[in-house]
Amino acid sequence: MAKKMNIPLVKVYMDEDIKKAVSEVLDSGWYILHEKTLEFEKKFAEFCKVKNAICVSSGTAAIFLSLQALDIKPGDEIIIPSFSFIATANQIIEVGAKPIFVDIETRTCNIDPERIRKAVTKRTKAIMPVHLYGHPADMDPILEIAKEKDLYVIEDACQAHGAEYKGRRTGGIGDVACFSFYPSKNMTVCGDGGAVVTNDDEIAEKVRRMRDHGRKDKYLFDMKGYNQRFNEIQAAIGIKQLEKLPKWNDARRKIAKIYTQALKDFVVTPVEEKWAKHVYHLYVIRTSKRNELREHLRKHGVSTLVHYPIPIHQQPVITSILGVQPTLENTEKVAKEVLSIPMHPALTEQEVEYISDKIADFSKKHE
Ligand SMILES: Cc1ncc(COP(=O)(O)O)c(C=O)c1O
Repeated sequence: MAKKMNIPLVKVYMDEDIKKAVSEVLDSGWYILHEKTLEFEKKFAEFCKVKNAICVSSGTAAIFLSLQALDIKPGDEIIIPSFSFIATANQIIEVGAKPIFVDIETRTCNIDPERIRKAVTKRTKAIMPVHLYGHPADMDPILEIAKEKDLYVIEDACQAHGAEYKGRRTGGIGDVACFSFYPSKNMTVCGDGGAVVTNDDEIAEKVRRMRDHGRKDKYLFDMKGYNQRFNEIQAAIGIKQLEKLPKWNDARRKIAKIYTQALKDFVVTPVEEKWAKHVYHLYVIRTSKRNELREHLRKHGVSTLVHYPIPIHQQPVITSILGVQPTLENTEKVAKEVLSIPMHPALTEQEVEYISDKIADFSKKHE
């Protein structure tokens, strides 16, 4: 029998080069919104193939500032999937608007464009698809509805750095997009951090100013603003991580291929649509015996997580603010079945084989 391994779900990359870059910033005496931030913003915009990237304090801040820059107000409605991290909905509520939850399709677990149309009302101002787990949402029908109904499209790309939809990078498809650099993401700044990216210079300028108190000049403020700034240490780390991101995404894709080959007869494996480049932020399998499989893997030293066990529309904070929400059949079913198994670029073939064998053993015993 193979020796027991201990395999984490994710692992943050660190090397001497990154530590040296951090040390240089510490010695520079410049810590907030300075040259490193500008350099990282330029490089991240180029990576996303958009005109502007504005770094902010988190992915959540990116969503909040995007909503503010688009002038989303109390009474407005924003269409989102419920099968996501809660930040997407929280920020909509924070600006006084209402999230309208739409069900997902069960192939990629992304928002189902066919259901979006029915959810549009005269109060709808935007659609915010999430590119869940690193697989892009089906954007063309979403853009078509948005054009027809005069709505903004805000991409929640917090899990999809480098993913592609029909050859277009996520982040450059809608009016504005939000990224997170939280430590578990495909690239990180080793702390909280995020970015708003957009081809619209006016939106970019509003976000740039609102992240720093609405500052026009050193001590001139002529618009509402916040402190959601970015710091230079994180920018220095971001620059180094971004250089490696394409290679890491390739490694994730390679690992996903091995997993899928090994697991496809035992569990539901992730789909990559013909039109998509999936970057496998998470590798999420599905099984009706999710909790039992999770326990089995835990006993064998394999870390797992559930993204997400309680859909947003059923979270107590949401029902207490908005009231009980209508049932979303696919979302509620999938939430009981999903299991994220280890995925990061440093995962070895032996580890992938070990995890796959443990899942296969479990499935054979529970046929
Ligand atoms: C889909 C999604 N939206 C928003 C966020 C919020 O990002 P952050 O944690 O950087 O605030 C996250 C990250 O956790 C996310 O996964």
